[in-house]
Amino acid sequence: MTAHKIALIPGDGIGVDVTEATMQVLDAAAARFGFTLEPTRFDWSCETYLATGRMMPEDGIDQLRPFDAIYLGAVGWPATVPDSVSLHGLLLPIRKAFDQYANIRPHRLLPGVEGPLRADAFDILCIRENTEGEYSGAGGRVHQGRDNEVATEVAIFTRKGVERIIRFGFAQARARRKHLTSVTKSNAQKYSMVFWDEVTQQVAAEYPDVTVSHMHIDAMAAKMVMAPGDLDVVVASNLFGDILTDLGAAIQGGLGFAASANICPDRSGPSMFEPVHGSAPDIAGKNIANPIAAIWSGAMMLDHLGEKPAADAVLAAVEAATAKGIGIRPGSHGTDAITAAILSALEDRA
Ligand code: IPM
Ligand code: MN
Repeated sequence: MTAHKIALIPGDGIGVDVTEATMQVLDAAAARFGFTLEPTRFDWSCETYLATGRMMPEDGIDQLRPFDAIYLGAVGWPATVPDSVSLHGLLLPIRKAFDQYANIRPHRLLPGVEGPLRADAFDILCIRENTEGEYSGAGGRVHQGRDNEVATEVAIFTRKGVERIIRFGFAQARARRKHLTSVTKSNAQKYSMVFWDEVTQQVAAEYPDVTVSHMHIDAMAAKMVMAPGDLDVVVASNLFGDILTDLGAAIQGGLGFAASANICPDRSGPSMFEPVHGSAPDIAGKNIANPIAAIWSGAMMLDHLGEKPAADAVLAAVEAATAKGIGIRPGSHGTDAITAAILSALEDRA
């Protein structure tokens, strides 16, 4: 029987609640489809930081390397540890160290979920560049606290980095409805974003079966509200993709439904799966958090591990639960009740 080794990092706040729910569902799927998940739990969190001065040990990345996948709940507890410390100590270094350059975020309405729009159906796959661009970490501050203080944050776009994310987007589009929208701001940012547009045109020549649109980020924000049904695969830089995927989460009914995968496509390191939402300290441990985004991210992990039938069954069980009205509105059901409904739908289909 195949055993998949999973590094489990529940992290902070509701990350712990939704990781627990996800593992229950994934274990049930594994039992049904004849494989096992072997989780190793890492208690890397803001509490760990307060106790040790580090979010993860110095050799944390090396500890994660041998795993088949990483599952992360959420990171952050801003009351005691600034987000700039906790995220740069755990989530962001993992994405960069394992070259998880493709951040995949699906946005569509699950059955029964209404969402805030009066729009037709939509099914968007957002591909966010995840290792460079505006979040490259290049920059600095001089003359701190003085009148002549200067701060820079340099957006870095490399040919390798842009080409590979665009190519990844085209490959996804080819497997779906064969349309790709590349999002830039090349009317205002005349170096990096014009470069991005050029690379998109070059890569497009390899995918003549895929149609391409170029949109500016501001117009794209409007389109995602006014006509999201026109979109298929959307490819964007780190910052633009970050913002658009919160918008995507909003139109799909909220962050409780927004799943994500940080993929290292050449599999030179483990990929990481996490819901888009944060640690939500105000509702942590209260059986309130919606585990659907986390469970959907878990399904994406199963798919990545080569367990597609199990992944499909988990998503079908989520859809069966929401179709019955379970978990479709904030506060309608608790974490446990939503998890139980998904587990029972998974059994029904066995
Ligand atoms: C996300 C988050 C992170 C990001 C933050 C917490 C650093 O907003 O996954 O979208 O911007 O990547
Ligand atoms: Mn974000």
